[in-house]
Amino acid sequence: MNLNDIKTPAYVIDEKKLRENLEILDRVQKESGAKILLAQKAYSVYQTYPLIAKYLTGATASGLYEARLAHEEMKLENHVYEPAFEDEEMGELCNICDHIVFNSLNQLEHHRPTWEQAAKEGKISVGLRINPEYSTQEEHEIYDPCADGSRLGIKLANMPDDLPEGVEGLHFHTLCEQGFEPLLDTFLFVEDKFSGYFPNPVSEVNIGDYGYAMMHRAGFDRIRENISSNVSASIGGAINTDDYKSINENIYKTGEVSLEHTTNTDTASMEPNANADEENKSRTRIKWINLGGGHHITREDYDVKGLIGLVKYIKDKYGIDVYLEPGEAIALDAGYLVTTVMDIVPTQRMPVLILDTSAACHMPDVLEMPYRPPLRDSEEPGELPYNYRLSSRTCLAGDIIGDYSFEHEIFIGDRLFFEDMAIYSIVKNNTFNGMPLPDIDILHENGEVEVIRKFGYEDFKMRL
Ligand SMILES: Cc1ncc(COP(=O)(O)O)c(C=O)c1O
Repeated sequence: MNLNDIKTPAYVIDEKKLRENLEILDRVQKESGAKILLAQKAYSVYQTYPLIAKYLTGATASGLYEARLAHEEMKLENHVYEPAFEDEEMGELCNICDHIVFNSLNQLEHHRPTWEQAAKEGKISVGLRINPEYSTQEEHEIYDPCADGSRLGIKLANMPDDLPEGVEGLHFHTLCEQGFEPLLDTFLFVEDKFSGYFPNPVSEVNIGDYGYAMMHRAGFDRIRENISSNVSASIGGAINTDDYKSINENIYKTGEVSLEHTTNTDTASMEPNANADEENKSRTRIKWINLGGGHHITREDYDVKGLIGLVKYIKDKYGIDVYLEPGEAIALDAGYLVTTVMDIVPTQRMPVLILDTSAACHMPDVLEMPYRPPLRDSEEPGELPYNYRLSSRTCLAGDIIGDYSFEHEIFIGDRLFFEDMAIYSIVKNNTFNGMPLPDIDILHENGEVEVIRKFGYEDFKMRL
């Protein structure tokens, strides 16, 4: 079947674009040694897991069901993190997962009787999610785990001096659709603030070997040294968040860090620590760190080289495994929501297209984020001659997708293609108003479309 012949509404996964994204992530893994996991909360069209499994290290889950899905369909490394686990879930999670990350010391200790034996036998590795209290997001508080009052992750002040027995890793997730620089800044902040949990450095690290990322770091260190005498230190003598932000602003103002920042490699390079192994044995130190998701690695302007440099730096310096668990980056721009115009209603403002899809039901992030999804062959309102508001056949007055302009007049029966609809769409859709769920199709690399899932009345009724 051809793309123009499919039944609408339908999500269409673009296999070629998915593969291209995976190739970028594979390059990051190969060149840096990072282990990249698919965050299934963003995308879990498991029929494409065999393709994903060719490239990635595994998957991460937000709970038992996603963990089960990856166990059944991906069959690679399987990680799970959830703010709280049910008692009856823990046994199964220990059987099917490789990493279990707890959100609090309470949860860790509550479930210890179940996970401890599996951890001792080397079947699972246990981690703690920390809250670095380093916010890099200005506008989207609902996507900011470092926002005031966040329940996500343990703050430094609530961490014990030494890692609890059995804990082997730390996890932080603080970003949302961001580039490399906020990750670098956050990691440097974590490295400084949570340094007591990192192993002592195991090898000499020459700052110049890490390219862009470490040039950034050199600038960071230099500025930090310069201001340290004027700064009021916070916990444990570390610099507080505001101070870091002003450092970063200085760095960013200069764009790519100037050469001046990179020449001081002698003082920035580290001495090897001959006693590191012995010292590390006397205290529990992390064996891995998980840098979470929110990294838009497959976006054209993402600084992939910087990311590779940072991961290499962490691995070389501390000898630990580094995990990344992006969701969006895996299927970014790798899917469409194809819809048909069912009616056109004239209004005082502009004609409204009634579509066979819905923001509320089929792309809830449009209302939740909120954002205006990209639409093929259209522009911002007013830029092209024909202007329309795109809406839905639900009863919700606010079920509006956005205003768009077109080169040509739109007619009933026309098809429209919303872009970048593979992520946070299929996993979040619902049948409000009894709306039918869109089909799920795959556009194969040879141009053929395969329908992999159809939904009907039973799918609506069985959830009620
Ligand atoms: C713990 C955790 N890991 C990974 C992700 C994936 O993030 P993204 O899809 O933005 O890359 C999220 C998203 O909310 C998350 O909460």
